[in-house]
Amino acid sequence: MKYKNILVTGSAGFIGFHLSKYLLDNYEDVKVIGIDNLNNYYNPVLKEKRNEILKNYGNYNFIKLDFSDWDNLVENLKDKDIDLIVHLGAQAGVRYSLKNPWAYIKSNELGTLNIFEFARRFDIGKVVYASSSSVYGGNKKIPFSEEDRVDKPISLYASTKRANELMAYTYHHLYGIKMIGLRFFTVYGEYGRPDMAYFKFAKNILLDKEIEVYNYGNMERDFTYISDVVDGILRAIKKDFDYEIFNLGNSKPVKLMYFIELIEKYLNKKAKKKFLPMQEGDVLRTYADLTKSERLLGYKPKVSIEEGLRRFCNWFLENRDWVLRL
Ligand SMILES: NC(=O)c1ccc[n+]([C@@H]2O[C@H](COP(=O)([O-])OP(=O)(O)OC[C@H]3O[C@@H](n4cnc5c(N)ncnc54)[C@H](O)[C@@H]3O)[C@@H](O)[C@H]2O)c1
Repeated sequence: MKYKNILVTGSAGFIGFHLSKYLLDNYEDVKVIGIDNLNNYYNPVLKEKRNEILKNYGNYNFIKLDFSDWDNLVENLKDKDIDLIVHLGAQAGVRYSLKNPWAYIKSNELGTLNIFEFARRFDIGKVVYASSSSVYGGNKKIPFSEEDRVDKPISLYASTKRANELMAYTYHHLYGIKMIGLRFFTVYGEYGRPDMAYFKFAKNILLDKEIEVYNYGNMERDFTYISDVVDGILRAIKKDFDYEIFNLGNSKPVKLMYFIELIEKYLNKKAKKKFLPMQEGDVLRTYADLTKSERLLGYKPKVSIEEGLRRFCNWFLENRDWVLRL
């Protein structure tokens, strides 16, 4: 690995945790500087659990901080000799952006600006950052390709993610920083996010509570298993590009009702379903075109939805004593 001091923002988050763990498990000479404000958008107990696992590694240096606070960011990171930033910290979630738009502007726009500006001031040559399939909005053309127009975001979350891509272009153009944006497609897996449907479904099924099925079940998502996403991020770290955006999905959209059936099967319990209309800001279907990611990154997802959900449900059952309380 040519990078030695990697800053991972959102390291106590779902994807940040898995990426950091992978780096620490596989590269002895790499130090991971992890930052996260451990906010309570979802239960921070889970963030603490992930962080405790990472803290077992001597090469993990965690600093609790909010990257939307510029002075604090500089004060804490200026001497760390960072040579690569993987920016995964963000206010995630589509639905919450209708309730608390400010959180998205603060973390995703101001916060991302701070991270990019930090790269500029401290001569960090490369930033890999998280974008999202939500930038495709109500795109009718499938599969979604990096070439498609993405100027009609249908949630504020999507709009901040698209803004990040535009800011990244500017920072590349003005200061020559290598900027790689990754559009993740509904990432799931162990230690995943309690605000996401698969997690809520598993939890409510085991607790005998109803699960909410939006648009009466007529939805499709291109679910991507966490190890495939980590593999994609690693490829984006290792390969050299000036400015690119890549889809990291599975390219196999799954019908919501089949998805629920699989969770029922692996938890060995039927769900009580409450069918509801479509939620504002939500999209009907996501579907990644992986032609570009495969050609330039060599990215090829390996884990099927059946295998990924089986692993997730097993983890969920094994950890039910604390996971059900999240
Ligand atoms: N999980 C998915 O399906 C998915 C899909 C598309 C895009 N993404 C993007 O991938 C990235 C990682 O997502 P995730 O699923 O791991 O989400 P996550 O919420 O689990 O992780 C994000 C982490 O960032 C931290 N954070 C937020 N604002 C911060 C701030 N101002 N300062 C410091 N830390 C802050 C949070 O505490 C959290 O631990 C995000 O940018 C998200 O928007 C995720």
